[in-house]
Amino acid sequence: MTLEAIKWNREENKLVILDQTLLPDMTLYLHIKDVQDGWKAINMMKVRGAPAIAIVGCLSLTSEIINHKEFKNKQAFFDFMKAKLNYLVTARPTAVNMKKAADEFIKLANELYNDSNYSLSSMKDRIVNDFEGMLEIDVKVNMAIGNNGAQEILSKNASKDSIIILTHCNTGSLATAGYGTALGVIRSLHKMEKLIHVYCTETRPYNQGARLTAYELVHDKIPATLICDDMVAAVLKTKKITAVVVGADRVTLNGDTANKIGTYQASIAILAKYHNVPFYVAAPRTSIDTNMYKGDDIIIEKRSAEEITHINGNRIAAEGIECWNPAFDVTPASLITGIITEIGTFSPEELKKHI
Ligand code: MRU
Repeated sequence: MTLEAIKWNREENKLVILDQTLLPDMTLYLHIKDVQDGWKAINMMKVRGAPAIAIVGCLSLTSEIINHKEFKNKQAFFDFMKAKLNYLVTARPTAVNMKKAADEFIKLANELYNDSNYSLSSMKDRIVNDFEGMLEIDVKVNMAIGNNGAQEILSKNASKDSIIILTHCNTGSLATAGYGTALGVIRSLHKMEKLIHVYCTETRPYNQGARLTAYELVHDKIPATLICDDMVAAVLKTKKITAVVVGADRVTLNGDTANKIGTYQASIAILAKYHNVPFYVAAPRTSIDTNMYKGDDIIIEKRSAEEITHINGNRIAAEGIECWNPAFDVTPASLITGIITEIGTFSPEELKKHI
């Protein structure tokens, strides 16, 4: 059985998503009827992970377009689409994928609007088809990332049959349309029978590692160990880690990378450098922001104090304490060995030339 976070049925015009806030205890699919449902699901992290956010956002709009009573004309359809896409971008600010999808689809809609070969109906069909196509494209992109990442790690390693990877957060089937980015690299190494072990961090405060990555690794029977975020230094020192591979929410042109909080800090990138372990970011080109040069310009989402003070609704922190809860941090390009994309692996300095 493959893990499917996003299920789309064109005939029934039905989008359902796996509610990731309930995993691993409960498997519950939610029906997303329209953009408002899509926005809420993204904002409340019922679906999360940069590629999955963009796909669910666009498919929620697909559902709404199909259900919409007839649009007056092409202009009315264009205005509707533009407003809805721009609204979806506001659900979460750090991952660039939804913003890039919105900009690309608004540009496409504008071209179709100005093309007399397209009627309102064919314009609508084209947009709906392209939205649906995102699911298939994302899986293909992830498989290419998985393969490129596995080749890169194997090519740099003397002990090719005993690869051990450390990863952070969740970048797998749950964060994408399937297979995953950093977890895709892990899956590819596993399929090639080169992987002997994975260490995944719990990823406080939201526990994407403990709840979601651990779930995917157990599901795929990949040998893995869950560690607390504050154990990374000890693991890097003692467990012969071949490479660290993480995902990305936004990579800027100089290679700086926003990813889940803890990627940069004392936990991973800095420690990997100190222990001479290569540190890779696995990211589709949809996560690379070609309009932003450096990481300092990335807006970092701040989330509620409750994510820190409570676990499963139970308070674990002293009443009255203030909290600071940024959802992401930015790893400077200087700590990154390579960025693994669907078209190859590039050093941060090379990235601009290839994207
Ligand atoms: O807050 P989240 O769970 O959406 O954060 C997810 C991450 O940071 C992932 O590493 C990133 O989006 C890449 S997912 C392929």
